[in-house]
Amino acid sequence: MSQAAGSAPAPKKVTVRSFAQAKERREPLVMVAAYDALFARLSDEGGVDAILVGDSLGNVVAGLDTTLPVTLEQMIYHGAAARRGTSRALLVVDMPFLTYQVSVERALLNCGRVMQETQCDALKLEGGSPEMEATVRALVRAGMPVMGHLGFTPQSVHVLGGFRVQGRGDDAAQRMIDEARRLEDAGAFSIVLELVPADLAARVTAAVSIPTIGIGAGVGCDGQVLVLPDLLGLTDGFTPKFLKRYASMAETTRDAVRRFAEEVRTRTYPGDEHAF
Ligand code: KIV
Repeated sequence: MSQAAGSAPAPKKVTVRSFAQAKERREPLVMVAAYDALFARLSDEGGVDAILVGDSLGNVVAGLDTTLPVTLEQMIYHGAAARRGTSRALLVVDMPFLTYQVSVERALLNCGRVMQETQCDALKLEGGSPEMEATVRALVRAGMPVMGHLGFTPQSVHVLGGFRVQGRGDDAAQRMIDEARRLEDAGAFSIVLELVPADLAARVTAAVSIPTIGIGAGVGCDGQVLVLPDLLGLTDGFTPKFLKRYASMAETTRDAVRRFAEEVRTRTYPGDEHAF
């Protein structure tokens, strides 16, 4: 299509190939977890490389203690909404608990449904077991790009004994490196590393040729992800060590609501300038 005279060229769409190139060129990748059209659009305009519709929406949006109750329908609803706000960034949707672990066939059908109904670009699955390797291989073969997720995998919170750093000790560290290699071998295009000691995350990153995206995993990963409401300072009760807040929107929101309430109660709003 020809460009209108003087208009800026459209920014290039991020693809799984761009992820591979970023690792080759040692260019850090930026991802945020966002759950709707509004915040996906603002993140896209802010220049992120990827938007993850994470099942953390169970905690952040629905107020749940874990991600386990999140359903396929909820992920599809939020994924489709985020799609409408995303133009340039790669859109990745999390597959929720028990939608991909039961059998390869169920995983293919559920993942296919998420791709068809949200029009996302890729899916994220937790774990790196031999069973997961077979599932990832089948998904990629069927045309569905997969982002893996190792370290603290929230859908296994009960087995892991809570929100804890993973991979401590030689055996656990070697297991994580083996799992990362397995995911790469199965065709995953990147791997999230969550709550992993920084030196181990750097070893995992060096062991695979696909990019790692860290959250609580130090600076040695190929990119970083944060949950958007966390980095905006909206979730001010959540204070993990790794989190840096880039705004204080919880206080900004409470203050705006207080001022609105005050003006309604004193009949200051709406004033003449807001009336028809
Ligand atoms: O669900 C989520 O938001 C995630 C990120 C924390 C990586 O998995």
